[in-house]
Amino acid sequence: MTTHDPASLSRSLSRAEQAALGSGADFWSTKQVGSVPSLVLTDGPHGVRRQVGASDHLGIAGSEPATCFPPAVGLGQSWDTELVGKVGRALGVESRALDVDVLLGPGVNIKRDPRCGRNFEYFSEDPHLTGTLATSWVQGLQSTGVGASLKHFAANNTEHDRMRSSSDVAPRPLREIYLRAFQAVVEKAQPWTVMCSYNRINGTYASENHWLLTEVLRDEWGFDGVVVSDWGAVQDRVKAVAAGLDLEMPGSGGGSDAHVVEAVEAGTLDAAVLERAAARTIALAAKAEAGRARDAAPFDPEAHHALARAAAAQCVVLLKNDAVGAEPVLPLTAGRSLAVIGEFAQAPRYQGGGSSHVNPTRVDIPLDEIRALSPDTEVTSAAGFTTDGTGDAAALRDEAVRVAGAAGTAVVFLGLAAHQESEGFDREHIELPAEQLELLADVVRAQPRTVVVLSHGGVLRLAPVAELAPAVLDGALLGQAGGGALADVLFGRVNPSARLTETVPVRIQDTPAYLDFPGEHGHVAYGEGLFVGYRWYDARDIAVTYPFGHGLSYTSFAYTGLELSAGADGITAQVTVTNTGERAGREVVQFYVAKPGSGVVRPVQELKGHAGVTLAPGESRQVTVTLDRPDLAYWDTRADHWIVEGGTYEVRVAASSRDIRVSASVEVTGDELVLPLTVDSTLGEVLAAPGAAEILGALMPMPQAEADSDVLGIDMAKMMASIPVRRLVSFAGGAVTLADLDKIIAQLNTARTASSQA
Ligand code: BGC
Repeated sequence: MTTHDPASLSRSLSRAEQAALGSGADFWSTKQVGSVPSLVLTDGPHGVRRQVGASDHLGIAGSEPATCFPPAVGLGQSWDTELVGKVGRALGVESRALDVDVLLGPGVNIKRDPRCGRNFEYFSEDPHLTGTLATSWVQGLQSTGVGASLKHFAANNTEHDRMRSSSDVAPRPLREIYLRAFQAVVEKAQPWTVMCSYNRINGTYASENHWLLTEVLRDEWGFDGVVVSDWGAVQDRVKAVAAGLDLEMPGSGGGSDAHVVEAVEAGTLDAAVLERAAARTIALAAKAEAGRARDAAPFDPEAHHALARAAAAQCVVLLKNDAVGAEPVLPLTAGRSLAVIGEFAQAPRYQGGGSSHVNPTRVDIPLDEIRALSPDTEVTSAAGFTTDGTGDAAALRDEAVRVAGAAGTAVVFLGLAAHQESEGFDREHIELPAEQLELLADVVRAQPRTVVVLSHGGVLRLAPVAELAPAVLDGALLGQAGGGALADVLFGRVNPSARLTETVPVRIQDTPAYLDFPGEHGHVAYGEGLFVGYRWYDARDIAVTYPFGHGLSYTSFAYTGLELSAGADGITAQVTVTNTGERAGREVVQFYVAKPGSGVVRPVQELKGHAGVTLAPGESRQVTVTLDRPDLAYWDTRADHWIVEGGTYEVRVAASSRDIRVSASVEVTGDELVLPLTVDSTLGEVLAAPGAAEILGALMPMPQAEADSDVLGIDMAKMMASIPVRRLVSFAGGAVTLADLDKIIAQLNTARTASSQA
């Protein structure tokens, strides 16, 4: 490419060339236009899906071998920003090796309902956790000279009718829940691209949404990269370019380029808007070119498999670990015979279906890894069930029960098969297959020392599992090395430290969006508002099977000495964590913030910080976390702005959202919020302005709380406080006119502005 800056290079191009830069050459690459090189974008996110032959966005045709790291559902459970950054970096190295310039991820949509078919590709029900992990992923990836594509922007929380349906979300949940992680990643990691989603937001397609793509993304958050469409998300390219879309993918054979040129010539599309869009794709090509020119770290499949295994082990949540006899069931004791049961022990379920489907370099088989890790342990196995309905169910179960009863411990692999959840459709329920639960009941009867290992992309109803089994490990989806990682955790080579990123409800009927999912007639009402995930269960005091943030360890931790201080950056919290058990381990320390007596509707508590600390037995360490001031803000719908409310904030330091260990309070100075008064402001609002009582009192008698309540037995001042001042014209019997009020309001507004600027 020439040395021109993108803006002047764009200016030097013809309109046809500018338009050509804004749509793909084919499925995965952009067009070369003059000196602007073509670049390659591909899926993502948990591995590189580089197709060299037939191409598709559904994960049907094959792709080059690449490491399948834990998908976001698993990776998120690590709550480990550093680890996620390392995985991002490794993905960058593989992208470079496979000539990929932009990897399509991460997905940061919020898991609004456990039935969403694509939840396996997203991190959490919580925007703070999603934002911090995804920021680190993008920073890791982009440190290698490969760009990210933050997706799917925005409010794409269901697969049902995803190309048409409108997510109807009120401003506060939209800002505080659904856009918050996007904002954090854009502001902190500057992803090269943002991918707009298929769906509509409050009636307008994301690809045509000027408010979303330009006013919010660029003007408010300062995004200066390329907005790319999800594959096939553009209905009308001209409207999309006007809204702020730069790149339509895949290509449309040049048809939409011609429409764009025609629109500019007809004066219905501003030429400057097209020129700016082209400049942004030129800047992206320049970044890609610079990335390619850097020395690429070699892609070592063995090293990446080892990283995938280490990462996966950090993603396994120990949900339950009761004692059978004197000792907890886990970790397994080498030498005690094992019965390994379940189809997933030999044919592991380790990634999701659809566009993110990776062709792994190799796959660890859990049964083999268990045998490899403990060669002196006698290990038997049985399938127990099939996921495709073939085989004699009773005979399979009987065989498994026999094997389990004859061993010292049973490890039962349960979960969902690939065909039961995927991109492109939602689940209708959150149940494990009935035959798996029946198998488990029979196995536990024959072998009380039973461990369940779960593989699944979306949340499952686990109450029946938790009732039956004394020990449960949740692997979600762990990527190609999950089998080895599970063996590491089962035998205690790795002490589990992962935490749930989603609540496990007692039943689907308890979930926040139960009545509004997946919507009807092309609309999804986000009726639960801010109350997504734990925010819902906490506010309604609903019992859950496992709370958000839950996860056990083979050791134990104590929290002491919480100290808080508030400053310009936010709230700094310091707490001492001690490993009180007998094994080294990592504790995920969670910081929830509550605002008692808030003037706005708020969740009971919200996660605003987390940190991991690894401690030897008996070791103590001080953990310091800053809860950033912007994260304390709520979206004020009157000011259309983030506002930090002043007053007392409570910080709860916790091992899960329902296991608060220590808490303390701190005073925070609020943002000044001066809303202009109007004649429709209430008397109470107007009288709160300095000098208002005197000015109005000179025209008409103002109510005096004590005096009037003596006379009438009611608090007149309180009653009158809710009357819009405009009504005084009729209530005051001619003592005051609308013109008088207009003048008074203007005077009060001027005085308030002057005093707030002083
Ligand atoms: C998915 C995207 C993906 C794209 C390309 C779409 O169907 O929604 O996440 O990146 O296809 O495969």
